[in-house]
Amino acid sequence: MSINLNMQPEFDFKIETTIVAPKKADPFIKWAGGKQALVSQLIPHFPKSFSRYYEPFIGGGAVFFATEHPVSIISDQNEWLIDTYEAIRDDWKKVAATLDTLPNTKNDFLRVRAIAPKSLNKIERAAHFIYLNKTCFRGLFRVNRQGHFNVPYGAYDRRYYDPANLSAAATALSGTTILRGDYEAAVVGISEGDFCYFDPPYYKLGGFADFNRYTAGQFREKDQVRLAALCNELSERNVKWAMSNSDTPFIRDLYKKYRKVQVNARREINLKSQERNVSELLILNY
Ligand SMILES: C[S@@+](CC[C@H](N)C(=O)[O-])C[C@H]1O[C@@H](n2cnc3c(N)ncnc32)[C@H](O)[C@@H]1O
Repeated sequence: MSINLNMQPEFDFKIETTIVAPKKADPFIKWAGGKQALVSQLIPHFPKSFSRYYEPFIGGGAVFFATEHPVSIISDQNEWLIDTYEAIRDDWKKVAATLDTLPNTKNDFLRVRAIAPKSLNKIERAAHFIYLNKTCFRGLFRVNRQGHFNVPYGAYDRRYYDPANLSAAATALSGTTILRGDYEAAVVGISEGDFCYFDPPYYKLGGFADFNRYTAGQFREKDQVRLAALCNELSERNVKWAMSNSDTPFIRDLYKKYRKVQVNARREINLKSQERNVSELLILNY
């Protein structure tokens, strides 16, 4: 066979190589107290380098995903949330496929909401968690004293998930140690050279209802005091930490010996979704 090298190609085409940077994950759920809007104000205050990244109140994970640290330990007391992180890490495609089978109607919402997560396998549990988060009123997670998810139907026409984002989240979670339980247990192995970011349920601002019942129990004043004692102990062991908390006299007093940076946040204050500008604190022991 002979090839005519003078032959003009029928189409003038160029091969373009586009280097696509791997997508950084964003939170795949909405979370009360989520730090997505604040993360760019927080990270510049973090140490430039550290060995391991700890985040014991992971919630929606906005700071963890933005930090992209290769060695991370994350934890939360909300077991259903932690199951969901594990399922996304282990097989996000199966979680997505299960989400695809759940219709966004009020009847289906009420049916799914009535199913106890413990009666499901981990993939279904994660899919139900994300589904309820995306279809419930105001997209928040809240449980009653018995630990039952109790948010009404939201009737929103929103996507349950973005495949590229779930894939990026699975990648970010792949090298991550995922723990469940109280924050004190999460930092047991921490040592000098590591860095910990704490984002506890905020100390309640006087007069304003807090809707952040993330777990059957509540985070009370004594838990804030216990957390401050843990932070003092970490400081004595030369472990660097940063903490977000409300700008209140109680919190300022608990952390009076530490440096504080005011961070501007917009906080929803009631169910009519009014917002007011408040400043909250980033407390630093370095
Ligand atoms: C303010 S949220 C964290 C928000 C997170 N930074 C984000 O961007 O979504 C506080 C988290 O603490 C968790 N939590 C409550 N009590 C806890 C405890 N004693 N130990 C660990 N986690 C707890 C809640 O389940 C909730 O996810």
